[in-house]
Amino acid sequence: MQTVTAIAELRTIIGAWRRAGDRIAFVPTMGNLHAGHIRLVDAARRRAERVVVSIFVNPTQFGVGEDFETYPRTEAEDREKLLAAGADLLFLPRVSEMYDPAAKTVVSVAGLSDLHCGAFRPGHFNGVATVVAKLFNIVQPDTAFFGLKDYQQFVIIRTMVRDLNIPVELVPVETVREANGLAMSSRNGYLSAAEKANAAKLYQALCAARDAVLSGVAAYADIEGQALAFLSEAGFRPDYFSICRSLDLAAATPEDRDLVILAGARLGKTRLIDNIGFSK
Ligand code: PAJ
Repeated sequence: MQTVTAIAELRTIIGAWRRAGDRIAFVPTMGNLHAGHIRLVDAARRRAERVVVSIFVNPTQFGVGEDFETYPRTEAEDREKLLAAGADLLFLPRVSEMYDPAAKTVVSVAGLSDLHCGAFRPGHFNGVATVVAKLFNIVQPDTAFFGLKDYQQFVIIRTMVRDLNIPVELVPVETVREANGLAMSSRNGYLSAAEKANAAKLYQALCAARDAVLSGVAAYADIEGQALAFLSEAGFRPDYFSICRSLDLAAATPEDRDLVILAGARLGKTRLIDNIGFSK
């Protein structure tokens, strides 16, 4: 596995692969890799001759007072894991390589970026859409792999790819969980052992809400209210718990069939998100 930090070098290597007829799969990450990330690399491996992984802690998607400075950076361990997973190329750019100080362009997926997580993290999804658009232009992959753990992020990127005619096939990958149900996340490292055990209640609340919908309860606001109360009781400070249409993340009505329940909550100093998708 080669590691490169410069865009020009990356383009040279990938250009040679493409001329040789190889398909290019891409997995963008912010590093501190866990089994969820590796699941994406495994899926990519099966779909293309060449797998490119990026690790870039993207400053533009962190808000003021968020954890950009303290976000875990574990390059040596990450490199070992990617080597073992069979990645071909690791792209590890510095901030100065990715962002010209005079940069003026921002990609904003209007309507979707302000909902749910976006309401509590102003500007976050503009930072995500902008860096993913840049990475797609740099790598020019045939396919790119994203985890459904970040469901709103996936919908926003899917919309951006459609609206900007970006020639990439997106592949969603199921959420990888701990044995207790907690969705794996680089931010789980901020949790104490006691918090980590308690954190599984977020997924339990999602499962209970899904079961209530499937059992025929039509008052979705009541289901959401009960979940918020359950989470507060369990020591979380919930931001939102929303039963949505999976297509556009608008509030679901009982007539909608394809649903996703999105939740974001803080536990101690850690912000957790999770979701569950299902059809009626
Ligand atoms: P990061 O949080 O590092 O996640 C990178 C990819 O791994 C995302 O597609 C995310 O959905 C996926 N992922 C994370 N935890 C997962 C889990 N438990 N199961 C399955 N997939 C999981 O998401 C980002 O980075 C950034 O916003 C990025 C897209 C790289 C842009 O900066």
